[in-house]
Amino acid sequence: MKSVKAIASVSVSMLVVTAWLSFSVEGQSSQVDRFRHNGSIRSENGSDRNRARFTEAPAGFDNLTNGFDVQGPDYETLDDDTVVPLASFNDNRFIFEEREGPADGLGPTYNGTSCGECHQNVVTGGASQVAEHRTGHMAENVFVESLGGSLIASRATHPNIVELVDYRDDVRTLRISTNTLGSGYIEAIANDTLLAIRDAQPADLRGTAIMVPVLEGDGTARIGRFGWKGQHASLVSFAADAYLNEMGITTPLFPVENTSLGRFVGYGTPYDAVADPEDDGQDVVAFANFMRSTKAPSRGPINHTVNSGEQLFTQIGCATCHVGSITTAAPGTQINSGALTVPPALGNKIIHPYSDFLLHDIGTSDGIPILPTPEFAMTANLMRTAPLWALRTRNRLMHDGLSFTVREAIERHAGQASSVIGTYNALSEPQKQLLFAFLNSL
Ligand code: HEC
Ligand code: HEC
Repeated sequence: MKSVKAIASVSVSMLVVTAWLSFSVEGQSSQVDRFRHNGSIRSENGSDRNRARFTEAPAGFDNLTNGFDVQGPDYETLDDDTVVPLASFNDNRFIFEEREGPADGLGPTYNGTSCGECHQNVVTGGASQVAEHRTGHMAENVFVESLGGSLIASRATHPNIVELVDYRDDVRTLRISTNTLGSGYIEAIANDTLLAIRDAQPADLRGTAIMVPVLEGDGTARIGRFGWKGQHASLVSFAADAYLNEMGITTPLFPVENTSLGRFVGYGTPYDAVADPEDDGQDVVAFANFMRSTKAPSRGPINHTVNSGEQLFTQIGCATCHVGSITTAAPGTQINSGALTVPPALGNKIIHPYSDFLLHDIGTSDGIPILPTPEFAMTANLMRTAPLWALRTRNRLMHDGLSFTVREAIERHAGQASSVIGTYNALSEPQKQLLFAFLNSL
């Protein structure tokens, strides 16, 4: 285990957001004032001094609850009439998988019809190969999003309003769908723990902790940890963002409909018949509670080869960023800017995400910041250390999904990972094979 000691004073390497941001995290200028915080973070006093109370988080790809919610009625018996939102893991899973249509508020521009469409492999909540794209351009060294935001919706409810990107928007990237299994444990990691991991990293490898708002919280910021850029710190915030920006469904946390490349196509136009907010916010909590109830991804077979590979992984410095073990905050700790108290099912749990949830410049970044505002400009060149748990369920790697093997993914690391990659390059081929065997067991 690494760096779970509580730290007395919390220091953060960037920021203080003074002005209201004039863009949302997914980049709609009309969502103006949603993505803001008051520039301070709460200490979440993460560690329990009695390590005897730490236990391994349950792991498995089995559609079974980790104990956050009860399992609920047999999944196969649920339908639109019998489902009870928030009642159980199975009820919330049903809502996570439920396909929405225009009458439910889907679109008018969107990327998918259900959360489960992109988060499914090998069970609901997992990752998938579905990629979305983001675009913009540079003007006098400042990133400018495509009209209506950098996240481009690839589908629409009407052929005339699909977002066709301007050819001059030449800063572009693909981002593939990430895993959400076990993300309740990630949410339950104290700010203090992530900062302690950062502070223990050697200067040239040190990650950047970014402060982001918790939309359902008290106005303080939290250390971001979800998404390719760590752009959110809470699952309710991410779920509300995704409901709007992936599916086009507005909620109280994100009440303003997306545009089609800046053109208003919401309620009152022929393209949208449902008044905003299209959902009262209950679905968002159901999505979040589903994810909070999922087990951590489990490991494949572990043998002598795999263990030798893990030793090399640690020895050559991969584990400096891809941190092997983290312990969540103690039950009862207030997190998410006061909006959530860590429950017994998620607290004092040892997890093996193989990430520090910090941002690094390893030379792969896509040039697109979390928001096109000065305080997030630096994130254009940073990426979150990709959690390597569940790696064996994915055959398209890195944010753009363009590395098809772990060898290629490793070889793309540069920048802050240069010294580690230098050591990797000096390994013999049989040693590299051990390392790959370890990675393919995750
Ligand atoms: C069209 C595909 C698509 C749909 C539909 C979709 N997502 Fe995602 N999801 C993604 C992609 C792509 C990412 C990575 C985005 C990024 O970081 O830029 C992601 C990331 C996430 C993450 C962050 C996990 C992590 O730590 O990396 C969460 C949580 C999440 N989605 C929840 C949801 C929920 C809840 C819904 C339904 C409301 C949903 N998603 C619908 C594609 C999708
Ligand atoms: C300086 C921090 C750092 C170090 C050191 C580092 N990585 Fe990474 N790793 C990252 C980041 C950041 C990403 C995500 C990059 C992206 O998507 O553009 C990543 C992505 C990956 C991926 C792709 C995972 C996915 O989900 O697509 C693999 C595999 C990987 N790293 C393995 C390794 C191995 C093996 C080593 C040691 C040889 C290593 N990394 C060293 C930061 C690091």
